[in-house]
Amino acid sequence: MKNILVIGSTGQIGSELTMELRKRYGGDHVVAGYIVGAEPKGELLESGPTARANVTDRQSLEMAVKEYHIDTIYNLAALLSVVAESRPSMAWKIGIDGLWNVLEVAREYECAVFTPSSIGSFGESTPHIKTPQDTIQRPRTMYGITKVTTELLSDYYYTKYGVDTRAVRFPGIISNVTLPGGGTTDYAVEIYYAAVKGEKFICPVKAGTYMDMMYMPDALNAAISLMEAAPARLKHRNAFNIASMSFDPEEIYKTIKKYVPDFEMEYQVDPLKQSIADSWPDCLDDTCAREEWDWKPQYDLESMTVDMLEKLRAKLGK
Ligand code: SER
Repeated sequence: MKNILVIGSTGQIGSELTMELRKRYGGDHVVAGYIVGAEPKGELLESGPTARANVTDRQSLEMAVKEYHIDTIYNLAALLSVVAESRPSMAWKIGIDGLWNVLEVAREYECAVFTPSSIGSFGESTPHIKTPQDTIQRPRTMYGITKVTTELLSDYYYTKYGVDTRAVRFPGIISNVTLPGGGTTDYAVEIYYAAVKGEKFICPVKAGTYMDMMYMPDALNAAISLMEAAPARLKHRNAFNIASMSFDPEEIYKTIKKYVPDFEMEYQVDPLKQSIADSWPDCLDDTCAREEWDWKPQYDLESMTVDMLEKLRAKLGK
């Protein structure tokens, strides 16, 4: 039986991943790890155990792992791309010093580890269309630098110490439970909130800026299926390209407008977000994930839009 620790359980991905893991493995087997100031509440607090698990404090990780006999860690602690540019040393401390602590504890207590990478691990010199699994990774953002290092360090712990590390490169993730905090792809979440609230959306990136995006249910499935995959089939580990849809602001706007005809959008480009977005791929080639662990997304832009609007209308009482 799996005993899982989710580090960052109150964040955008963690809040939904913890609940999905509890559904699949049972509430008692999934510990919601948190830091002081971001404690679990409501359903997350009530449906299973919680433990302080701060990646910058190795002892807190060790205590949680020992107490709950953890064998699998989902490490979601990170600063997203835009925030990381204003706090580069904090981004490194959480992303890399923190990862070091997670991997050391995993080595000692024999845990498997999932620490996501991102489309942000690529840079200007990466081929932008159908970006291959194995290609140039020379990002210039601190977020990207920590993500490439995450991939390398995770692979190192696998080859040197046999720690079962696996990961995907997440695209921008669109969700309706917890808001993302400070990423370049956040606009693709915010646009739905604006549409449902009846507000005009101010778009921070230009028309024609394509990035990979994914609806949360597919992102959760990706993480869980990869961790359940037969190890013998995995030729890659850290980290797999995954893809389900790629669009620019015009395409998402037009899709939403089909269901919200009065919806309006205006561009006010944020130079930092634009330059980060321009350095990232337009769309990834996810053949390796499809071949090595049967990755297959369910949602496209249209089906995601229908579901997002329905869920947000219910959530916001609109
Ligand atoms: N959503 C992330 C960001 O925009 C990319 O992985 O920072």
